[in-house]
Amino acid sequence: MSHKNMIRQIRKTFLPFALPSISEDAIESVTAVLRSGWITSGPKVKQFEADFSEFLGCKHSIAVSSATAGLHLALEAIGMDRNSAAITTSVTFTATTEAICYFHAEPILTDIDPVTNNMTVASLEATIEKFCTFRSGKLYLKNSKKLVKAILPVHIAGSSCDMEGILALAKKYNLYVIEDAAHAFPAIHKDKLIGNWGDFTVFSFYATKGITTGEGGMVTTKHDKYADRMRRTRLHGINKIAYDRPSWYYEVTEPGFKYNMTDISAALGIAQLKEANSFWDRRRAIAKNYTDAFQNIKGIRLPQEEKNGIHSWHLYRIELDPSIAKMGRDSFAEELKDRNIGSSLHFIPIFEHPFYRKKFQYDRDEFPNACKMYDRCLSLPLFAGMTDEDVDDVIFAVKSLLED
Ligand SMILES: Cc1ncc(COP(=O)(O)O)c(C=O)c1O
Repeated sequence: MSHKNMIRQIRKTFLPFALPSISEDAIESVTAVLRSGWITSGPKVKQFEADFSEFLGCKHSIAVSSATAGLHLALEAIGMDRNSAAITTSVTFTATTEAICYFHAEPILTDIDPVTNNMTVASLEATIEKFCTFRSGKLYLKNSKKLVKAILPVHIAGSSCDMEGILALAKKYNLYVIEDAAHAFPAIHKDKLIGNWGDFTVFSFYATKGITTGEGGMVTTKHDKYADRMRRTRLHGINKIAYDRPSWYYEVTEPGFKYNMTDISAALGIAQLKEANSFWDRRRAIAKNYTDAFQNIKGIRLPQEEKNGIHSWHLYRIELDPSIAKMGRDSFAEELKDRNIGSSLHFIPIFEHPFYRKKFQYDRDEFPNACKMYDRCLSLPLFAGMTDEDVDDVIFAVKSLLED
């Protein structure tokens, strides 16, 4: 189909960059829970966890109220405290670094790969070399007693980080690996689904994600002791959830958090999980349509298919080179909006936010690739419920704005 020669009207309704897809079956499952008399954590949470473990082929799945909560629990389980630090990427949502800050610990940021926009082994090594020293089997922040305890890779947009390389580096420096997989459900890296690589993997079921529970998250881990701990810490440090308590008696084994998932959310999660593969297929097909259509536009960098696995296609992020493209990113976003097409930016780098800049004194010059991304990047609409017409509207708008 030639979009140039097609007479096409500007769409009449606004197309957001993301929308959830909720089936009638899902609505009925949630309604059944609402009618059942048991709406907080109970049988649906247990079933969702079992179904999720089966889907991923992982050992433990712990359902929580958000990915942010999951990151907090995983960091707590490895003993983060105010004398700790953790290494993560400069291009992520504030949730990743915020969870580190909950402990008054320090987030150390890497620059990103210019193509995938993920942290890489090289960017990690450069960060460690510059900011850390390795003594007696432990990695410390230079000129500080702060012990570096973990690497938090973030699979941006659903393109997975080099997990083999990161795990090897983590082993060398005695670090845990806590993956922020908010964008990577489902995604495959090499021969394994994300959720089976690091010590912990944290997924998000926020409204725009691969599957949604409204708000919610899941932590997967192969470690029995951390799974047990997180099952307690997600609910006040109580050793049994209400549904499992045979009587009024329970014990608090440590001060925990209120991070449990409700059965209302879990019922939605169970229904969404049944559709996860078809949602994923649809996202991949839309991404392929975009890539085929935008191939020859000058000054645009398109996201790459995974060489070694399968992208989740949570986001379709493009970059506009202002010296070649017909317009810069900001004007392009405005023009798209005028054509009723939504877009977003993932992400404003962490070091640009006033809190992080002031608190940790990050130096922009350390992150040239992240700075370049920030000037050029934009996410186009991509969600499983997009119709072919929606996809064509986006393609038409992009081509009419950027093609010669
Ligand atoms: C990379 C990343 N990490 C973590 C989160 C936090 O997820 P949640 O909203 O489930 O806490 C998000 C949310 O969008 C995210 O994009």
